[in-house]
Amino acid sequence: MAVFLDSADVEDVRQAMALGFVAGVTTNPTLIAQVGREGLDVLRDILSITTGPVFYQVTAETVEGRTAQARQAAAMAPDRVFVKIPATTENLTMAARLVSEGIQCAITAVSHPSQAYLAAMAGAAYAILYVNRLTRQLGDGIAVLRDCAALLRSTPTRVLAASLKSVDEVAAALLGGAQDVTIPLGLILKMGEHELSHQAIADFAAALAER
Ligand code: E4P
Repeated sequence: MAVFLDSADVEDVRQAMALGFVAGVTTNPTLIAQVGREGLDVLRDILSITTGPVFYQVTAETVEGRTAQARQAAAMAPDRVFVKIPATTENLTMAARLVSEGIQCAITAVSHPSQAYLAAMAGAAYAILYVNRLTRQLGDGIAVLRDCAALLRSTPTRVLAASLKSVDEVAAALLGGAQDVTIPLGLILKMGEHELSHQAIADFAAALAER
């Protein structure tokens, strides 16, 4: 079970790694566009900051182009780079071929258990579900995640919950069977806090002060 940072911002990555409990980093094309840099430059920098896994999405228009991008990214750190590949039949075939070359793949934007099943059959290390987007688009992203997690339980393919927008949504994803979660820095920092915990700390301090 791992918590990943969902960001392409190297300052976020530094802060997250300093927390000591964040295992690695997921990026996506939107996050990379937001930092206004070349994708592979961002990937190289993130790999130099974290010792954990880093997820990098291929974006070229053709299978040949995406395959070349996947090989280039994986070559930067074959043990730690997970190539993110959006779920389509064409991409699942590409993922199966990349896996046979020893490249670690994560099928992303999985929106139905049938895609999760094929991700496992293709040998992907992860099936990534966009929980909040699924809730907005289909009504109940946690239900889709729960079905995918049940289906993949006996396979080596891990269910990674992404697009998480609140502490409650993170907890629901984990309770629904996500083995791993990826979360923006602000939300990771919120997760460790609760007003009742602070109240307990204040109560203990008050008891000590009254001695
Ligand atoms: C993970 O890497 C996903 O790309 C990301 O969590 C998607 O989140 P969004 O729905 O906020 O774009």
